[in-house]
Amino acid sequence: MRLVLLGAPGSGKGTQAARLKQALGVVHISTGDLLRAAVAAGTPLGLQARAVMERGELVSDDIVLGMLEDRLNAGDTGKGFILDGYPRNSAQARALDALLQRLGQPIDQAVLLDVDNELLIERIAGRAKAEGRSDDTPETVRNRLRVYTEQTAPVIDFYAAAGSLLRVDGVGSVEDITTRVLAALGTSAR
Ligand code: AP5
Repeated sequence: MRLVLLGAPGSGKGTQAARLKQALGVVHISTGDLLRAAVAAGTPLGLQARAVMERGELVSDDIVLGMLEDRLNAGDTGKGFILDGYPRNSAQARALDALLQRLGQPIDQAVLLDVDNELLIERIAGRAKAEGRSDDTPETVRNRLRVYTEQTAPVIDFYAAAGSLLRVDGVGSVEDITTRVLAALGTSAR
């Protein structure tokens, strides 16, 4: 199964993707994790991405698409994948569609985790205390939420128009939300 997981910062994409990959037997591809690994490794791409991420802006479409294409060509996506954090604007949604058509691996479903802003801010503040992620500062979080509303929310319409969008209530326990996503997909844990 090939899924796109959509949702605002703090909506639980990473948390749910880690559980869904076990349940569905697919790989989890997070562009945020790939970018953070590049930053940590100090690669030229990481050096370019770091300041952009710390401002809460989007890294350039070309860089992220190239990185994603390399990851999809790693040879482990035969049983499917969950994309977390991609696509993040309409241009990325179109580029992904074209890339996956070329690879013969189109998306089956897009799942949107619905969470209101107040709870998003609360969850990220909790993670800021626990983990100190460099883009979890109050100012950057405000910007990430603005970028989400302005640039990423239109991607929801892209998948709705394609008839592949599933909306799932992202409020509640982590376990309950996984159950809801699997039910929406018409499947259960392996
Ligand atoms: P990315 O890493 O994708 O971050 P994000 O979308 O802002 O999402 P988060 O990681 O904050 O939240 P999440 O939805 O994964 O929630 P999580 O499970 O962690 O991107 C970071 C940056 O990289 C971007 O700002 C951009 O600069 C760049 N980037 C990435 N992709 C890009 C792209 N395609 N194009 C351009 N730039 C890109 O949960 C959050 C917290 O809540 C955790 O502490 C978790 O434990 C907790 N939590 C989760 N679920 C629950 C629950 N049910 N109840 C209580 N707590 C919960």
